[in-house]
Amino acid sequence: MFQINDNYQKLPGSYLFSTIGKKVNAYQQANPDKNIIRLGIGDVTQPIAPAIIEAMHKAVDEMGHAETFHGYAPDLGYEFLRKAIVENDYKARGCEVEADEVFVSDGAKSDSANIQEIFAQNNRIAVCDPVYPVYVDSNVMAGRTGTYDKNTETWSDVIYMPCTAENNFVPEFPKETPDMIYLCLPNNPTGTTLTKDQLQEWVDYANRVGAVIIYDAAYEAYISEDNVAHSIYECKGARNCAIELRSFSKNAGFTGVRLGFTVVPKDLKCGDVSLNAMWARRHGTKFNGAPYIVQRAGEAVYSEAGKAQLKEQVAYYMKNAKTIKDGLKDAGYTVFGGVNAPYIWLKTPDQMTSWEFFDYLLEKANVVGTPGSGFGPSGEGYFRLTAFGNYENTVQALERIKAL
Ligand code: MLT
Repeated sequence: MFQINDNYQKLPGSYLFSTIGKKVNAYQQANPDKNIIRLGIGDVTQPIAPAIIEAMHKAVDEMGHAETFHGYAPDLGYEFLRKAIVENDYKARGCEVEADEVFVSDGAKSDSANIQEIFAQNNRIAVCDPVYPVYVDSNVMAGRTGTYDKNTETWSDVIYMPCTAENNFVPEFPKETPDMIYLCLPNNPTGTTLTKDQLQEWVDYANRVGAVIIYDAAYEAYISEDNVAHSIYECKGARNCAIELRSFSKNAGFTGVRLGFTVVPKDLKCGDVSLNAMWARRHGTKFNGAPYIVQRAGEAVYSEAGKAQLKEQVAYYMKNAKTIKDGLKDAGYTVFGGVNAPYIWLKTPDQMTSWEFFDYLLEKANVVGTPGSGFGPSGEGYFRLTAFGNYENTVQALERIKAL
């Protein structure tokens, strides 16, 4: 008789955004006349920029002719894309990253879930609390997190680093020494970030204790302040301790197109073993590459026209962020984030739990957000709104919230 991977049985509930989706659909079915505004999941609403669409059309046409047809993509991704990434995301910022350290994928979500595979099962992971749920859940599936305590909503073998208003959402070095440290900066869900100096301290810490940092920079395009690093490789010593994950979802609207990449520097080693070689082995075995058409779309992100159009798109979403932040402040809420990230993190009013506020907002204002406790116990009493809606809906959502 076959057996299953029992670790899956340990996972409490369903994936956060699936739970929210089900709740909202049930409410909409029961109240078909209500116009619900969705500021929950961080899904983009603006169309793909014209320069990218043009590149995709061209690539589609190429696929229709024998001379320009493309089959399987190269293991690491097409060189034209990896070179554009290296030049624009790294060399332009003074970071040392080579094209053979870039692994093109179908997005940062899958990479952030898969990367743990190349580490030993008994590694201790450290996560910020609250945290993007994929980091913890993927380690649960791998059997790395111990047992779940329903009361504290924590895993026995996970090291939690609380990020709350009390510490300005800056994680402190944990008392127990971790082997793998997940950092998402700018942060999902709190919308806050670290200064470059604070990030450098984390890099120094990781090198000191022999830990690896899994650095999720999916929201990098939203950084507006000068003292915030766009890549962890801006920090000295990061090539020896950090893997960086990047996404085209939030900077270029590829949530439905799917494209991302992971950087594994050749200097990152465990003894003599190169993690770059390990990830290359894993990538070659388990992944057959992002589609040619999509990689050409990714290349267009770095074209002059693409860059200009995407700058406007990011500004559009950041205008929403300001609308939400200012509107909530006017209504008396305590708010964080929204300056270097497309997320606004607010304190729930009147001691409401995160889920109580979720229901209240859905029923009274027909606005969907994300309960902070869904991201971890320290998220209790907080709530996340996304700036990825369209502007008109965002303004309307705030009017409704102010009128409560
Ligand atoms: C979020 O809402 O946290 C994100 O959209 C989830 C994701 O990027 O997978």
